[in-house]
Amino acid sequence: MTDQRTPQNAPLVELKNISISFGGIHAVDNASVDLYPGEVVALLGHNGAGKSTLIKILSGAYKRDSGEILINGEPADIRNPRDAKKYGIETIYQTLAVADNVDAAANLYLGRELRTPWGTLDDVAMEASAREVMGRLNPNFRRFKEPVKALSGGQRQSVAIARAILFNARILIMDEPTAALGPQETAQVGELIKQLKKEGIGIFLISHDIHDVFDLADRVSVMKNGQVVGHARTEDVTKDEVLGMIILGKVPPKAIPGPGAMQV
Ligand SMILES: Nc1ncnc2c1ncn2[C@@H]1O[C@H](COP(=O)(O)OP(=O)(O)OP(=O)(O)O)[C@@H](O)[C@H]1O
Ligand SMILES: [Mg+2]
Repeated sequence: MTDQRTPQNAPLVELKNISISFGGIHAVDNASVDLYPGEVVALLGHNGAGKSTLIKILSGAYKRDSGEILINGEPADIRNPRDAKKYGIETIYQTLAVADNVDAAANLYLGRELRTPWGTLDDVAMEASAREVMGRLNPNFRRFKEPVKALSGGQRQSVAIARAILFNARILIMDEPTAALGPQETAQVGELIKQLKKEGIGIFLISHDIHDVFDLADRVSVMKNGQVVGHARTEDVTKDEVLGMIILGKVPPKAIPGPGAMQV
């Protein structure tokens, strides 16, 4: 599904020829990936492959040494996380970044609280919009009045995701979002991701485990030693073929090789 508003149906995000080194280490080496609206692209690779570093360049946490970021086909000037938010980019980390002692509504508006004309906190408006956003994402969620620490991991992750989309995220980066969750809660986050897709949000879903993401992803991009091994539509490849990309850098016939592909 593509968004007709984008010029020439340009990708929502294009990271082009991105490189960054720390000391002598090429953490990311000439990496290119893209993402379309309503699409889930799984960014896969072993520990240390460069996945988090690459997306931290998109989220403004790191400054690239070279390469280009395009949003809707236009060059984007992203130098810090605030710039990234202006482009509708939000990040969800594996560590459940919620404030435990306050309820869901307070978490959604943490640091960006709504106020009444008299300058007091507008709890009524915040709770109403918390109910609206959570209702879209996770209709079974009822525990609006409880501190977030009383919620399950999956419910807490839905609060973190609701917080991101409340502020009009169009591009969601999820770095191992289920690492701290059990199987049932992981399934719940999977349902959230399907809901976000329907809203046209593009998602980079990062994982070192193919099994976590294969069924959710429209495409996979695999990294190894800082380089992109290749890209494939999940319907064109098997899990074993993707494992071959991750472990050996071996690119199956229907995938598009990148600079890190094994030379045969
Ligand atoms: N701030 C930093 N300073 C120095 N080296 C770094 C820094 N951040 C990342 N690196 C190095 O860059 C490489 C890529 O790390 P990165 O965290 O991007 O890997 P990853 O693919 O996300 O791995 P994981 O699956 O373990 O999260 C590693 O060799 C890492 O040690
Ligand atoms: Mg990482």
